[in-house]
Amino acid sequence: MKLNGTSRINERGHLEIGGCDTVELARRYGTPLYVMDETLIRENMRTFVRAARETGLRFKVAYASKAFNTMAICRIADEEGLMLDVVSGGELHTALAAGFPPERIYFHGNNKSPAEIEMGLDAGIRLFIADNFTELDLLEAVAAARGMKARILLRVSPGVEAHTHAYIQTGQEDSKFGFDLGSGQVHQAVEKVLKSSAIELEGFHCHIGSQIFGTEAFELAIEKMAALIRDCRRTFGFETRIFNIGGGFGIRYDEEDTPRPVQSLIAGIGQAVKEAFGDMPVPEIWTEPGRAIVGEAGTTLYTVGTVKVVPGIRKYVSVDGGMSDNPRPALYQAKYEGMLANRALEEPEETVSIAGKCCETGDMLIWDIRLPGVRQGDILAISCTGAYNYSMASNYNRLPRPAVVLVRDGEADVVVRRETYDDLIRLDVIPERLRKKDGRETGVEAIGPFRA
Ligand code: LLP
Repeated sequence: MKLNGTSRINERGHLEIGGCDTVELARRYGTPLYVMDETLIRENMRTFVRAARETGLRFKVAYASKAFNTMAICRIADEEGLMLDVVSGGELHTALAAGFPPERIYFHGNNKSPAEIEMGLDAGIRLFIADNFTELDLLEAVAAARGMKARILLRVSPGVEAHTHAYIQTGQEDSKFGFDLGSGQVHQAVEKVLKSSAIELEGFHCHIGSQIFGTEAFELAIEKMAALIRDCRRTFGFETRIFNIGGGFGIRYDEEDTPRPVQSLIAGIGQAVKEAFGDMPVPEIWTEPGRAIVGEAGTTLYTVGTVKVVPGIRKYVSVDGGMSDNPRPALYQAKYEGMLANRALEEPEETVSIAGKCCETGDMLIWDIRLPGVRQGDILAISCTGAYNYSMASNYNRLPRPAVVLVRDGEADVVVRRETYDDLIRLDVIPERLRKKDGRETGVEAIGPFRA
């Protein structure tokens, strides 16, 4: 397993992150446990901001909070001066509750509800990214009813689709997101917005995919968007103030992943922007990475439970979490690396596969990993779980969601508490007609409190 950020092996032969012994963290906070390396998160944010500044453009960085959204990460993004991309009322609520300045928040999504739009307007967020014609109508109606003006970017589907390393060009973009460029929808949308007194157009947005390693697909998208921006100047006399190039910068999950360093990606993007805009005024450029900021900063700790050997075929090692805390292997065949955190210096001696504890055959976290002879009670660490793990976690099989601890300089702080069994039933309601007639609503009081 590649050691990221402040991860290292300490004198006790244990994996240490942020100066904290992970075996100790597992003992203190229980497992599964998400461990987030604050130093690395801040370093990643600073790398983006620095690279953006070095392009010489007016270039702003937002954190795409969908990757990992908690109040603590909102505080960090605020302290580092980033903007924040939210895609739902829930993400917005989290950010506002954390005191993130609304004027640096913007609202994404392909189906914002009237209530979400009201929430954004009332909070005074920077702008909305409008995704389709229905949304334009809705933004206009909601803003007009409040006597307000909704500032927007139009999300454009530029017909460039990025597939990790490679990209394919699609003539007619088949996507639920954005106004289609090829068919002229964007021009219709611009025309419509420019006539509206309740919506103000500030510019355009495009996002071409996620876990992208190179600049080629970005360059193609930038060319197309610059042509659109030039065309809108000519046709409508519209001066684009903001061009948001989206996020999607890839990280290294295992040795097959070879992302270009952020520094060089952003430099390449800056160069592509300058070339594509030529003698046209260059608008403010925005980017909104999620994974590249938090992905490698997260490590999940599990306790090894049962071991099953299928003679001549495979050894299954089961851990106390699984697709409930990391659905990515089951959803995307995502690959991860891992190690025994409590026996980090021991040589690998067997090949095993790591199974989750959910009742689903597909709940496998890692196929074929080399580890020292694994024993019940070992602490297994899986790296690069900072993005889209906690944020996509579920209570499948009624597993309580793990705690999240933020580590830095030998200190560990719980930033999300572990769910308890009582949390799992907190929102359940037993209708009157299903209540037990002996007066006991549940059997829980009779047995005593459970610990998750
Ligand atoms: N901007 C927009 C409009 C997006 O849709 C996304 C991600 C981002 C920014 C941030 O992308 P990032 O820099 O994190 O790649 N659940 C999937 C990833 C879904 C990405 C959704 N959109 C996964 O676990 O791989």
